[in-house]
Amino acid sequence: MSKPMLSGIEVCVFDAYGTLFDVSSVARGARDALGERWQTLSDLWRSKQLQYTWLRGLAGHHADFWQVTGDALDFSLGTLGIEQPGLRERLMNLYLRIDAYPEVPAVLQRLQAAGLKTAILSNGSPAMLDAAVDSAGLRASLDAVLSVETVGVFKPHPSVYRLAGSHFAVAPENICFLSSNGWDAFSAKAFGFHVLWCNRFGQAPERIPALPDGEIGDLSALPAWLGIG
Ligand code: LAC
Repeated sequence: MSKPMLSGIEVCVFDAYGTLFDVSSVARGARDALGERWQTLSDLWRSKQLQYTWLRGLAGHHADFWQVTGDALDFSLGTLGIEQPGLRERLMNLYLRIDAYPEVPAVLQRLQAAGLKTAILSNGSPAMLDAAVDSAGLRASLDAVLSVETVGVFKPHPSVYRLAGSHFAVAPENICFLSSNGWDAFSAKAFGFHVLWCNRFGQAPERIPALPDGEIGDLSALPAWLGIG
């Protein structure tokens, strides 16, 4: 048992896309059709998808993440001049079978074996998240799958982060939140969670309020932070 670097944690709450699930696996899954453009499409699609969540939140025009993801894909295909019959539908369907990162199943099982609760807290719509969780075989390793659709606004609105504490009836400081998305990790810390930034992509720190409690390269480092490594 290693010495815990975070104490009092009862629940580990994970961002979904980018943290548990590899967003780039979606466009990579259609590489035969996209060729080397798969990476450009993947990056543009992801960045536009997130922009649309923030734009819709600021304007008060919520639509669920399935629609936002499809809108961002249409923008990206249009920008890159990619027109192939059936490709849009194929890419959207691949989103429902998105790959989990390799260390995820064992880490979730380790947390549960140590008596911790595990959950997803994501922008994803319930149907998208259910499909991804089942496809990756993670259902039994998660105590809850929480979607922003319950509050009808995207991250980083505080009402989203509030969902986790109210679901498990625990205070924010007894939750360890994990996200690879820097903006999500920093915003969750500003809300009051303990936060580990799973900085998979070696990104520079965000310049927004609050600093996460720590940074890890992937989720395999999490148990040691909780003293169960
Ligand atoms: C999510 C996005 C932010 O899963 O990746 O909430």
